[in-house]
Order: sequence, then structure tokens, then C-alpha cells
Amino acid sequence: MNKVKVVFWSGTGNTEAMANAVASGIKSAGGEAELIPFETVSVSDVSGDSVIAFGCPAMGAEVLEEGSVEPFMMDYENKCSGKKIALFGSYGWGDGQWMRDWQDRLTAGGATILGGEGVIANNAPDDDVISKCEDLGRALAQA
Ligand SMILES: Cc1cc2nc3c(=O)[nH]c(=O)nc-3n(C[C@H](O)[C@H](O)[C@H](O)COP(=O)(O)O)c2cc1C
Repeated sequence: MNKVKVVFWSGTGNTEAMANAVASGIKSAGGEAELIPFETVSVSDVSGDSVIAFGCPAMGAEVLEEGSVEPFMMDYENKCSGKKIALFGSYGWGDGQWMRDWQDRLTAGGATILGGEGVIANNAPDDDVISKCEDLGRALAQA
């Protein structure tokens, strides 16, 4: 089984906790997980990965983090055709619009969103969200 990359950005640790749960789900299904901060990855590093996970909280006004995640996605959304992608992230006061927009961009680029939609947590992930993230990890390992 291939190693599954879990690429994430997190300012205060909420999305990072979700990334850790996705990684433990991958491992529980017998896969290998590699946690990678967005700041350290380029689109060419992941161009060969047909199954991958991305995590980013809602930032700005319902947008992706603008320093590293948005520039990455502007390029990646044109190169994601045929890929199976898991999305996750935390939000605060909104209603998840940033995640719907993110899903739509990747779907428009030809990707399939694992589970049909991203897993979102209001602030710190509770037990229910952690368990959804672990399920996402298992789906990644088996995709
Ligand atoms: C600069 C900034 C902008 C934010 N913008 C939004 C937003 O548009 N909508 C929302 O629901 N939450 C917003 N939030 C709240 C974060 O998404 C929330 O605190 C989240 O848990 C942070 O995840 P993290 O711990 O992984 O960084 C914002 C937070 C910051 C610091």
C-alpha cells in the first residue's frame, strides 16, 4: 500500500488535531501516513499522488489560508483530475462556506472528494469529528 500524504495548515492546532486523527485512521487500516505542513510542500511534490488528504481552517472571510494554502490550490486545482481527495478543516463563526467552495474548486478540476464532502469541526474537533476524521483516514487507505 502506498504512503498517503496528509498535507495541512493549522494556526492554533484545531486542524492539526484533525490531521492527526486522519493519520491514525490511515494507520488503523494498515496504511502508512505522512503528515506534511503546507508550508513545506509544492504541487510537484504531490503530482504523483492519486490519493491524498488536505486540511485547512476557514481564514480571511471564508477563504483558505492565503500565505501557502491558496497559492498551492490555485495551481493544484488545474492538476487534480482523476485524484481522490479527502478534505478537512476547522472553522469558527461561519457556516462552512470555505469548505463548500474548496470542494467545488477541486470537483470542477475533475477530482473526487472522498466521503462526498469535507469533514469540518467547529473550533476544536469533538469526539464525533475525530471519529469522522479516522473514518476518512480508513477510506484513504482503502481508496
Ligand atoms: C485571521 C482569521 C480569520 C478567520 N476567518 C474565519 C472565517 O471566515 N470563518 C470562520 O468560520 N472562521 C474563521 N476563523 C476562525 C478559524 O477558522 C478557527 O479559529 C479555526 O478553529 C482555526 O483552526 P486552526 O486551529 O487549525 O488554525 C478565522 C480565524 C482567524 C485567525
